[in-house]
Amino acid sequence: MGEKRGGFVVLGASGFLGVHLVDVALERGQRVHAVARRGGAGGTAALWHPADLAAPGVLVALLDRLRPDAVVLAAAVSRVDVAERDPDAARRLNVDVPADLGHWAAGRAARALLVSTDQVFGAEPPPPGGFLEDTPVAPLSVYGHTKAEGEAAFLDAYPSGLVVRLPLLFGDSRGRGLGASDALLAAVARGERPFLFEDEWRTPLDARDGAELLVDLLETGARGVVHLPGPERLTRAEFAERLFQRPPWPFDRGPRAARGAQSRPRDTCLASSRAAALLARAPLALDVALRRASP
Ligand SMILES: NC(=O)c1ccc[n+]([C@@H]2O[C@H](COP(=O)([O-])OP(=O)(O)OC[C@H]3O[C@@H](n4cnc5c(N)ncnc54)[C@H](OP(=O)(O)O)[C@@H]3O)[C@@H](O)[C@H]2O)c1
Repeated sequence: MGEKRGGFVVLGASGFLGVHLVDVALERGQRVHAVARRGGAGGTAALWHPADLAAPGVLVALLDRLRPDAVVLAAAVSRVDVAERDPDAARRLNVDVPADLGHWAAGRAARALLVSTDQVFGAEPPPPGGFLEDTPVAPLSVYGHTKAEGEAAFLDAYPSGLVVRLPLLFGDSRGRGLGASDALLAAVARGERPFLFEDEWRTPLDARDGAELLVDLLETGARGVVHLPGPERLTRAEFAERLFQRPPWPFDRGPRAARGAQSRPRDTCLASSRAAALLARAPLALDVALRRASP
Protein backbone atom coordinates (compact mmCIF):
# COMPACT_ATOMS: atom_id res chain seq x y z
CA MET A 1 0.00 0.00 0.00
CA GLY A 2 1.39 3.44 -0.88
CA GLU A 3 2.39 5.86 1.88
CA LYS A 4 0.13 8.88 2.34
CA ARG A 5 1.82 12.10 1.12
CA GLY A 6 1.99 15.38 2.94
CA GLY A 7 2.31 16.14 6.62
CA PHE A 8 4.81 17.77 8.93
CA VAL A 9 8.33 16.35 9.26
CA VAL A 10 10.37 16.93 12.42
CA LEU A 11 14.03 16.04 11.87
CA GLY A 12 15.64 15.45 15.27
CA ALA A 13 12.28 14.52 16.79
CA SER A 14 13.71 12.79 19.87
CA GLY A 15 15.87 15.74 20.96
CA PHE A 16 15.27 18.26 23.73
CA LEU A 17 13.51 20.64 21.33
CA GLY A 18 12.27 17.98 18.91
CA VAL A 19 9.85 16.29 21.34
CA HIS A 20 8.13 19.65 21.86
CA LEU A 21 7.96 20.31 18.12
CA VAL A 22 6.29 16.92 17.65
CA ASP A 23 3.76 17.70 20.40
CA VAL A 24 2.93 21.15 19.05
CA ALA A 25 2.48 19.90 15.48
CA LEU A 26 0.26 17.02 16.68
CA GLU A 27 -1.83 19.41 18.79
CA ARG A 28 -2.37 21.53 15.68
CA GLY A 29 -3.82 18.58 13.85
CA GLN A 30 -0.81 17.78 11.65
CA ARG A 31 0.17 14.29 10.54
CA VAL A 32 3.64 14.25 12.04
CA HIS A 33 6.60 12.30 10.67
CA ALA A 34 9.26 12.04 13.37
CA VAL A 35 12.87 11.37 12.34
CA ALA A 36 15.92 10.49 14.45
CA ARG A 37 18.39 7.60 14.66
CA ARG A 38 16.68 6.27 17.78
CA GLY A 39 13.27 7.10 19.13
CA GLY A 40 9.66 6.18 18.79
CA ALA A 41 9.36 4.71 22.28
CA GLY A 42 7.71 7.88 23.55
CA GLY A 43 4.22 6.65 22.72
CA THR A 44 3.25 9.75 20.73
CA ALA A 45 0.88 9.63 17.81
CA ALA A 46 3.70 10.60 15.45
CA LEU A 47 4.82 8.29 12.64
CA TRP A 48 8.44 7.35 13.39
CA HIS A 49 11.11 6.99 10.72
CA PRO A 50 14.43 5.87 12.22
CA ALA A 51 17.17 7.24 9.95
CA ASP A 52 20.80 8.35 10.10
CA LEU A 53 20.65 11.75 8.42
CA ALA A 54 24.45 11.94 8.30
CA ALA A 55 24.47 9.18 5.69
CA PRO A 56 24.55 10.65 2.16
CA GLY A 57 21.23 10.61 0.32
CA VAL A 58 19.12 9.50 3.29
CA LEU A 59 17.37 12.84 3.87
CA VAL A 60 16.47 13.45 0.25
CA ALA A 61 15.22 9.87 -0.24
CA LEU A 62 13.01 10.22 2.84
CA LEU A 63 11.58 13.59 1.79
CA ASP A 64 10.99 12.35 -1.76
CA ARG A 65 9.01 9.46 -0.29
CA LEU A 66 6.98 11.48 2.24
CA ARG A 67 6.54 14.66 0.17
CA PRO A 68 5.69 16.69 3.29
CA ASP A 69 4.05 20.11 3.39
CA ALA A 70 6.45 21.32 6.10
CA VAL A 71 9.88 20.31 7.42
CA VAL A 72 11.61 21.53 10.59
CA LEU A 73 15.28 20.63 10.87
CA ALA A 74 16.13 20.33 14.57
CA ALA A 75 18.64 17.49 14.17
CA ALA A 76 22.14 18.67 14.91
CA VAL A 77 25.39 17.91 16.63
CA SER A 78 24.17 20.27 19.32
CA ARG A 79 26.76 19.88 22.06
CA VAL A 80 29.74 22.20 21.93
CA ASP A 81 32.15 19.60 23.37
CA VAL A 82 31.01 16.86 20.97
CA ALA A 83 31.46 19.19 17.98
CA GLU A 84 35.00 20.11 19.15
CA ARG A 85 35.90 16.39 19.46
CA ASP A 86 34.44 15.39 16.08
CA PRO A 87 34.30 18.39 13.72
CA ASP A 88 33.69 16.14 10.70
CA ALA A 89 30.53 14.68 12.22
CA ALA A 90 29.43 18.20 13.25
CA ARG A 91 29.98 19.40 9.69
CA ARG A 92 27.98 16.55 8.17
CA LEU A 93 24.94 17.22 10.33
CA ASN A 94 25.17 20.98 10.87
CA VAL A 95 26.27 22.00 7.34
CA ASP A 96 25.65 19.20 4.81
CA VAL A 97 22.15 18.27 6.03
CA PRO A 98 20.87 21.90 5.95
CA ALA A 99 22.38 22.26 2.46
CA ASP A 100 20.60 19.09 1.30
CA LEU A 101 17.32 20.27 2.84
CA GLY A 102 17.67 23.62 1.09
CA HIS A 103 18.32 21.98 -2.29
CA TRP A 104 15.33 19.68 -1.77
CA ALA A 105 12.94 22.46 -0.69
CA ALA A 106 13.92 24.94 -3.41
CA GLY A 107 11.21 25.07 -6.04
CA ARG A 108 8.83 22.87 -4.05
CA ALA A 109 5.65 24.02 -2.33
CA ALA A 110 6.80 22.63 1.04
CA ARG A 111 7.98 25.07 3.72
CA ALA A 112 11.29 24.30 5.44
CA LEU A 113 12.71 25.80 8.62
CA LEU A 114 16.27 25.41 9.90
CA VAL A 115 16.67 25.73 13.66
CA SER A 116 19.85 27.59 14.50
CA THR A 117 21.52 29.09 17.53
CA ASP A 118 22.80 32.18 19.32
CA GLN A 119 26.22 30.46 19.23
CA VAL A 120 26.75 31.87 15.72
CA PHE A 121 27.77 34.91 17.82
CA GLY A 122 30.23 35.20 20.66
CA ALA A 123 33.59 36.13 19.17
CA GLU A 124 32.60 39.81 19.20
CA PRO A 125 30.67 41.68 21.90
CA PRO A 126 27.01 42.36 21.11
CA PRO A 127 25.74 45.73 19.94
CA PRO A 128 23.72 47.58 22.61
CA GLY A 129 20.48 45.64 23.16
CA GLY A 130 21.79 42.35 21.77
CA PHE A 131 22.57 40.66 18.45
CA LEU A 132 20.08 41.46 15.71
CA GLU A 133 19.27 39.43 12.62
CA ASP A 134 21.57 41.58 10.47
CA THR A 135 24.53 41.55 12.88
CA PRO A 136 27.39 39.73 11.09
CA VAL A 137 27.93 36.26 12.55
CA ALA A 138 31.15 35.69 14.52
CA PRO A 139 31.22 32.23 16.12
CA LEU A 140 33.81 30.99 18.61
CA SER A 141 33.34 27.22 18.63
CA VAL A 142 33.24 24.47 16.01
CA TYR A 143 29.56 24.16 16.88
CA GLY A 144 28.94 27.85 16.21
CA HIS A 145 31.02 27.83 13.00
CA THR A 146 29.23 24.79 11.58
CA LYS A 147 25.79 26.18 12.46
CA ALA A 148 26.65 29.50 10.76
CA GLU A 149 27.89 27.65 7.66
CA GLY A 150 24.75 25.50 7.69
CA GLU A 151 22.54 28.61 7.75
CA ALA A 152 24.38 30.08 4.76
CA ALA A 153 24.30 26.80 2.79
CA PHE A 154 20.55 26.37 3.49
CA LEU A 155 19.63 29.92 2.45
CA ASP A 156 21.96 29.92 -0.58
CA ALA A 157 20.18 26.84 -1.91
CA TYR A 158 16.71 27.98 -0.79
CA PRO A 159 16.42 31.77 -0.54
CA SER A 160 12.77 31.58 0.54
CA GLY A 161 13.70 29.35 3.49
CA LEU A 162 13.44 30.33 7.13
CA VAL A 163 16.27 30.17 9.69
CA VAL A 164 15.30 30.76 13.31
CA ARG A 165 18.10 31.36 15.81
CA LEU A 166 17.21 30.23 19.31
CA PRO A 167 18.94 31.19 22.55
CA LEU A 168 19.83 28.87 25.45
CA LEU A 169 16.83 26.58 25.99
CA PHE A 170 15.39 25.41 29.29
CA GLY A 171 12.28 23.54 30.36
CA ASP A 172 10.87 20.03 30.37
CA SER A 173 13.32 17.49 28.97
CA ARG A 174 11.17 14.46 29.89
CA GLY A 175 13.40 13.50 32.79
CA ARG A 176 16.57 13.41 30.69
CA GLY A 177 18.47 16.23 32.41
CA LEU A 178 18.79 18.15 29.13
CA GLY A 179 18.71 21.94 28.78
CA ALA A 180 19.56 24.77 31.14
CA SER A 181 17.03 24.04 33.90
CA ASP A 182 16.74 20.23 33.90
CA ALA A 183 20.55 19.88 33.81
CA LEU A 184 20.80 21.98 36.98
CA LEU A 185 17.90 20.22 38.69
CA ALA A 186 19.41 16.82 37.83
CA ALA A 187 22.88 17.81 39.11
CA VAL A 188 21.42 19.04 42.42
CA ALA A 189 19.31 15.88 42.71
CA ARG A 190 22.53 13.84 42.33
CA GLY A 191 23.98 15.74 45.29
CA GLU A 192 26.29 17.93 43.20
CA ARG A 193 26.81 21.64 43.76
CA PRO A 194 26.94 23.32 40.33
CA PHE A 195 29.15 26.38 39.74
CA LEU A 196 27.29 29.16 37.90
CA PHE A 197 29.02 32.02 36.10
CA GLU A 198 28.27 35.62 37.03
CA ASP A 199 29.81 36.96 33.83
CA GLU A 200 28.13 34.93 31.09
CA TRP A 201 24.94 36.41 29.67
CA ARG A 202 22.14 34.67 27.78
CA THR A 203 18.48 35.29 26.81
CA PRO A 204 16.99 31.89 27.79
CA LEU A 205 13.77 30.56 26.28
CA ASP A 206 11.47 27.72 27.35
CA ALA A 207 11.78 24.85 24.85
CA ARG A 208 8.02 24.16 24.67
CA ASP A 209 7.31 27.87 24.21
CA GLY A 210 10.06 28.03 21.57
CA ALA A 211 8.52 25.07 19.72
CA GLU A 212 5.14 26.82 19.60
CA LEU A 213 6.68 30.04 18.32
CA LEU A 214 8.78 28.16 15.73
CA VAL A 215 5.66 26.55 14.28
CA ASP A 216 3.91 29.94 14.36
CA LEU A 217 6.83 31.45 12.42
CA LEU A 218 6.78 28.64 9.86
CA GLU A 219 3.07 29.32 9.30
CA THR A 220 3.69 33.03 8.61
CA GLY A 221 5.62 32.22 5.43
CA ALA A 222 8.49 34.42 6.62
CA ARG A 223 11.87 33.96 4.95
CA GLY A 224 15.47 34.70 5.91
CA VAL A 225 16.77 34.87 9.48
CA VAL A 226 14.58 35.49 12.54
CA HIS A 227 15.80 35.66 16.14
CA LEU A 228 13.67 34.30 18.96
CA PRO A 229 15.19 35.65 22.17
CA GLY A 230 13.74 34.77 25.55
CA PRO A 231 12.07 37.54 27.54
CA GLU A 232 15.04 38.53 29.74
CA ARG A 233 18.80 38.98 29.55
CA LEU A 234 20.53 37.44 32.55
CA THR A 235 23.64 35.67 33.76
CA ARG A 236 23.87 31.93 34.36
CA ALA A 237 23.88 32.62 38.13
CA GLU A 238 20.81 34.88 37.89
CA PHE A 239 19.05 32.21 35.85
CA ALA A 240 19.76 29.63 38.57
CA GLU A 241 18.41 31.99 41.25
CA ARG A 242 15.19 32.40 39.28
CA LEU A 243 14.95 28.60 38.87
CA PHE A 244 15.52 27.75 42.54
CA GLN A 245 13.57 30.88 43.67
CA ARG A 246 14.95 31.36 47.21
CA PRO A 247 18.04 30.72 49.33
CA PRO A 248 19.75 28.64 50.52
CA TRP A 249 21.07 28.32 46.98
CA PRO A 250 22.12 24.79 46.04
CA PHE A 251 24.91 26.13 43.79
CA ASP A 252 28.10 28.20 43.92
CA ARG A 253 28.79 31.22 41.73
CA GLY A 254 31.73 33.20 40.45
CA PRO A 255 33.55 34.49 37.39
CA ARG A 256 34.42 32.30 34.43
CA ALA A 257 38.11 32.93 35.12
CA ALA A 258 37.75 30.94 38.38
CA ARG A 259 37.13 27.83 36.24
CA GLY A 260 39.36 28.67 33.27
CA ALA A 261 36.24 28.93 31.10
CA GLN A 262 36.95 32.26 29.40
CA SER A 263 36.99 30.69 25.94
CA ARG A 264 33.21 30.22 26.04
CA PRO A 265 31.08 32.96 24.43
CA ARG A 266 30.64 35.59 27.14
CA ASP A 267 27.50 37.18 25.79
CA THR A 268 25.28 35.73 23.06
CA CYS A 269 22.14 37.68 23.97
CA LEU A 270 19.75 37.84 21.05
CA ALA A 271 17.45 40.68 20.09
CA SER A 272 15.02 40.78 17.17
CA SER A 273 13.81 43.41 14.78
CA ARG A 274 11.41 40.89 13.18
CA ALA A 275 9.83 38.50 15.69
CA ALA A 276 7.32 40.92 17.25
CA ALA A 277 5.89 41.91 13.86
CA LEU A 278 5.60 38.28 12.71
CA LEU A 279 4.19 36.69 15.87
CA ALA A 280 0.82 37.20 17.55
CA ARG A 281 2.37 36.91 21.03
CA ALA A 282 5.62 37.37 22.91
CA PRO A 283 7.47 34.48 24.61
CA LEU A 284 6.20 33.55 28.07
CA ALA A 285 7.50 35.58 31.01
CA LEU A 286 10.56 33.88 32.51
CA ASP A 287 9.03 33.12 35.91
CA VAL A 288 5.87 31.70 34.35
CA ALA A 289 7.93 29.39 32.14
CA LEU A 290 10.29 28.46 35.01
CA ARG A 291 7.39 27.53 37.29
CA ARG A 292 6.31 25.16 34.55
CA ALA A 293 9.88 23.79 34.31
CA SER A 294 10.37 23.24 38.07
CA PRO A 295 9.41 19.96 39.76
N1 LIG B 1 19.44 23.10 23.44
C1 LIG B 1 19.67 24.41 23.34
O1 LIG B 1 19.87 25.12 24.36
C2 LIG B 1 19.68 25.07 21.97
C3 LIG B 1 19.88 26.44 21.92
C4 LIG B 1 19.87 27.08 20.69
C5 LIG B 1 19.67 26.34 19.53
N2 LIG B 1 19.51 25.00 19.60
C6 LIG B 1 19.32 24.28 18.33
O2 LIG B 1 18.10 23.56 18.42
C7 LIG B 1 18.19 22.35 17.66
C8 LIG B 1 17.82 21.19 18.56
O3 LIG B 1 18.71 21.16 19.66
P1 LIG B 1 18.48 20.13 20.86
O4 LIG B 1 19.03 20.74 22.08
O5 LIG B 1 17.08 19.64 20.84
O6 LIG B 1 19.45 18.95 20.40
P2 LIG B 1 19.51 17.44 20.90
O7 LIG B 1 18.74 17.28 22.18
O8 LIG B 1 20.94 17.05 20.86
O9 LIG B 1 18.71 16.66 19.78
C9 LIG B 1 19.28 16.40 18.53
C10 LIG B 1 18.32 15.55 17.72
O10 LIG B 1 18.95 15.24 16.48
C11 LIG B 1 18.95 13.82 16.30
N3 LIG B 1 20.13 13.43 15.55
C12 LIG B 1 21.42 13.65 15.89
N4 LIG B 1 22.23 13.09 14.98
C13 LIG B 1 21.43 12.52 14.05
C14 LIG B 1 21.65 11.77 12.86
N5 LIG B 1 22.90 11.49 12.43
N6 LIG B 1 20.59 11.33 12.16
C15 LIG B 1 19.32 11.59 12.58
N7 LIG B 1 19.04 12.29 13.69
C16 LIG B 1 20.08 12.75 14.42
C17 LIG B 1 18.93 13.26 17.71
O11 LIG B 1 18.43 11.94 17.78
P3 LIG B 1 19.39 10.63 17.68
O12 LIG B 1 20.62 10.94 18.47
O13 LIG B 1 18.54 9.52 18.21
O14 LIG B 1 19.64 10.46 16.25
C18 LIG B 1 17.97 14.22 18.37
O15 LIG B 1 16.64 13.86 18.05
C19 LIG B 1 19.63 22.31 17.12
O16 LIG B 1 19.64 22.81 15.81
C20 LIG B 1 20.39 23.25 18.02
O17 LIG B 1 21.46 23.83 17.30
C21 LIG B 1 19.50 24.33 20.79
